[in-house]
Amino acid sequence: MASAKSEGFVWLWHYLSRHKKVFLPSLLALFFTAGLSLVFPWFLKDLIGDPSDALRRGVEPAEVVRKVDADVLVMLGALALQAFIGYWRVQGFIRSGEAALNDMRKDLFDHLTLLPISFFQEQRTGALSNRISADLAVVRETLITTVPQAARQTVILIGGLAAVFYSSWKLSLMMLSCIPFVVLAVALIGRRVKAHSKASQDALSESSTIVEEVCQAIADVKSYGNESYECHRYGKSLKHYYEVTVRGARTRGLFLSFIIFVMFGTIAGVVWLGARMLSHGEITQLQFTSFILFSIFVGASLGAFPEIMAQISAMNGASERLREVLAQTPERQGGGILKDFRGEVSMSGVVFRYPSRPEQEVLRGVTFAVKPGQRVALVGSSGGGKSTIFSLLLGFYEAEAGGIRFDGEDIQKLDIAKLRKQLAVVPQEVMLFGGTIAENIAYGKPGANQAEIESAARVANAHEFIIGMPEGYETTVGPRGVKLSGGQRQRIAIARAVLADPRVLLLDEATSALDAESERLVNEALERLLHGRTSLVIAHRLSTVRNADLILVVQNGSIVESGTHDELMSLAGTYRILVETQLV
Ligand SMILES: Nc1ncnc2c1ncn2[C@@H]1O[C@H](COP(=O)(O)OP(=O)(O)OP(=O)(O)O)[C@@H](O)[C@H]1O
Ligand SMILES: [Mg+2]
Repeated sequence: MASAKSEGFVWLWHYLSRHKKVFLPSLLALFFTAGLSLVFPWFLKDLIGDPSDALRRGVEPAEVVRKVDADVLVMLGALALQAFIGYWRVQGFIRSGEAALNDMRKDLFDHLTLLPISFFQEQRTGALSNRISADLAVVRETLITTVPQAARQTVILIGGLAAVFYSSWKLSLMMLSCIPFVVLAVALIGRRVKAHSKASQDALSESSTIVEEVCQAIADVKSYGNESYECHRYGKSLKHYYEVTVRGARTRGLFLSFIIFVMFGTIAGVVWLGARMLSHGEITQLQFTSFILFSIFVGASLGAFPEIMAQISAMNGASERLREVLAQTPERQGGGILKDFRGEVSMSGVVFRYPSRPEQEVLRGVTFAVKPGQRVALVGSSGGGKSTIFSLLLGFYEAEAGGIRFDGEDIQKLDIAKLRKQLAVVPQEVMLFGGTIAENIAYGKPGANQAEIESAARVANAHEFIIGMPEGYETTVGPRGVKLSGGQRQRIAIARAVLADPRVLLLDEATSALDAESERLVNEALERLLHGRTSLVIAHRLSTVRNADLILVVQNGSIVESGTHDELMSLAGTYRILVETQLV
């Protein structure tokens, strides 16, 4: 447990140290101002305790008044200095803490983008992003609030204890007798507080996922009339969060009230003893006042520690999860680059299972070869493995056996990111980003200029409808492109692919029917896009299949038939049945 704790801090320091030029002076300033805050009780005790002692010793009242005036001036001076340094110190902590956090956020995001698809499929995306932001919030709270707080309270505690012992060691020992109880409570209950805080964070992130999912799929929710179902689901999840948190609150409450009781009980005991010592003349009024004032400071700073410890525990849990994400192995980087890629694609004997479902052999020896410029149609009943073939060509997963080759080069030896740049995917359901139409087209080639974007849009039969919109290319498409029609979205995706200018196109033909005019525009655009490139199309329309140079019939993870339309029709096998039952 101790090592896990220090690991969290080592990790924090790894980021903070990049900004140590701001952080360390701020920390130093904090130590200084925390020390200064002890000046306050120091002079306060003189102001309260000294005059009566002095008068008793027969000092002139005028002299006493002069000393009191001087004390107040020094005290105010110290307070002003403290405020002045504090002004800069607070800014320094925010500056260095937030900068370190931004580095952390950036590293996490950068790392996430490099992780394999399988990592994301193993979790609900909403849960992942919610968890990361909740964990980052905990780390932020620790950096901006808890670390300065801990440093300040430590200084006050040590300085205060020194002053308390200086005032009266006997009373001090009596006071310290409560510490073992506090330590015991921290050790026993603190761990449970930590476990509860993790459980409650998980529960909250679970319920945030529902909000995210519903916002994303609001049209589906409404069309199925499932508003109340979702409200109920969210309510249930919130109730669960509440229950988990309240269970934790009991422990937390027990913890705090125990400590408060022990502390105030001790104070009562100590004051009782002090009053007796004072009446016996064992200590002076000044010593007793000094003891009480510094004890209040010591007590207050001790009282802050349980919260500090709880926050540090929460930070440890949070940083552990964040480091877990950072420790995930990214996709393979580097490798060969295909110069003058001709667009030859082949699979031989490819066997594949999804890592999340190892018991199901999804591809059972898939073999095919596509020559440069060839048009290939993949057909077959649902669940046969067509989309899986695409995922493997894109290098999203690795095959268990067999080879995948581009221009005869094994995919394992190729730089996967560079290879993907030579392939373009036009998916079934086009996902646009929430920016403008121009930005969405330029996604195919970041940095493309307006002329390139427009010419791509022309090829994609999209230019006309785009300039017909009030803001033309600067029209925003709404989250995921919801402000555009299905056919318009598809043409934007085609324009994107035109701009990317890949050698190989992977096209998952849309199943949703477009109206005749839209379909004509989309088909025309596709025709231009496919021209001169190798294409693999998961086909749902007979017209696409008829025009293909090669048809692959994918059933149950194997290619059961291949050939042209006429060849396969005369074979009177699966393909013919598919055509006759209008599955294609
Ligand atoms: N991420 C995944 N994890 C586990 N199994 C998966 C995953 N994706 C697909 N499968 C399974 O792999 C099999 C093949 O799926 P695939 O998506 O390749 O079929 P398909 O031929 O594209 O079907 P459709 O025509 O319906 O799109 C199916 O049995 C499916 O349940
Ligand atoms: Mg599919």
